[in-house]
Amino acid sequence: MIKACITTVNWQKGRLRILDQTLLPNQVRFISCPRVNQVHEAIRNLRVRGAPAIGVCAGWGVYLGMKHSQAKNREAFLKELTRVTSYLATSRPTAVNLFWALRRMKNAGGYERKTPFDVKKAKKILYEEARRIELEDKELCRRIGRFGQKLLRSGDTVLTHCNAGSLATAGTGTALSLIYEAKRKGKRLHVIADETRPLLQGARLTAWELMQNKIPVTLICDSMAGALMAQGKINKIVVGADRIAANGDTANKIGTYSVAVLAKHHNIPFFVAAPVSTFDFSTSDGSHIPIEERHADEIRNGFGNWTAPKKVPVHNPAFDVTPHELITAIVTDRGVFYPPFQQSLQALKQ
Ligand code: MRU
Repeated sequence: MIKACITTVNWQKGRLRILDQTLLPNQVRFISCPRVNQVHEAIRNLRVRGAPAIGVCAGWGVYLGMKHSQAKNREAFLKELTRVTSYLATSRPTAVNLFWALRRMKNAGGYERKTPFDVKKAKKILYEEARRIELEDKELCRRIGRFGQKLLRSGDTVLTHCNAGSLATAGTGTALSLIYEAKRKGKRLHVIADETRPLLQGARLTAWELMQNKIPVTLICDSMAGALMAQGKINKIVVGADRIAANGDTANKIGTYSVAVLAKHHNIPFFVAAPVSTFDFSTSDGSHIPIEERHADEIRNGFGNWTAPKKVPVHNPAFDVTPHELITAIVTDRGVFYPPFQQSLQALKQ
């Protein structure tokens, strides 16, 4: 089994412990979130980020928000629960894992309607559901890695964009899980990490994470990917996802779409890796996926330096949508799915 080098998010001694990713790679510092508003803040400000990790934190966030409930009856409890889940739902809009986890927590909280209400029991059920979401995420990562490693050959140079590794999940990651599992199988791989403007998840997180795991990695600026593909220096691409629509259209970190177009042009396989919690079958195609617009200063003043005029208007979408036509295969915890996705992904609904 692959071991993630660092635990990004977990429940420890009655507290939610999160690795503060805004400080990486300069500092490895964990924060403890005893209250729901701290979980909201950590998600909103990307202290914890990556779709599956956001889902895991949301589960614990709900428990923290309900932990001190004094509700006397089921109606009052459910009202509080709705308030907490609606609040956490405002933290970030694109990663569907957030809403998936909130729905699971809400369903768990509405337990056994026929039995008499007991607030202690209701809270215990929420605790157990949050725990399950965390543990399941680890297993989903393992399974993605096992299925996906088969797509990689010894000697491959694999490009990835953003961070879809152990820093983005409670386990070994999604896209990077393929790499870790392939390495475990003895395959020699080299990873090219896109820097991932503007928040540099590729540079600050993926490069750091891969180095911790002794995977050979070369960091490039986003704008260099095309030239490397043209020179034949990249032969596979693996990325994660924040939301996959019913037809396979995939929202992921801004810049993913450009990589997919380049891959198509250069005839390079483009793989997406994601757990079931990232699929949104209620969204027919990518045009309906909400795309988060983040603060202009992330571009004008990245990491404390003005790199543009202070008042220049900025457009800063955090994600883009890669149309399903550009995706070679989607690796999930239930196997690898190929086009036509509209049909093949149906199997995931069961
Ligand atoms: O803004 P971020 O850092 O949360 O964006 C993360 C990504 O786009 C990841 O690729 C995606 O969430 C998949 S993580 C397994």
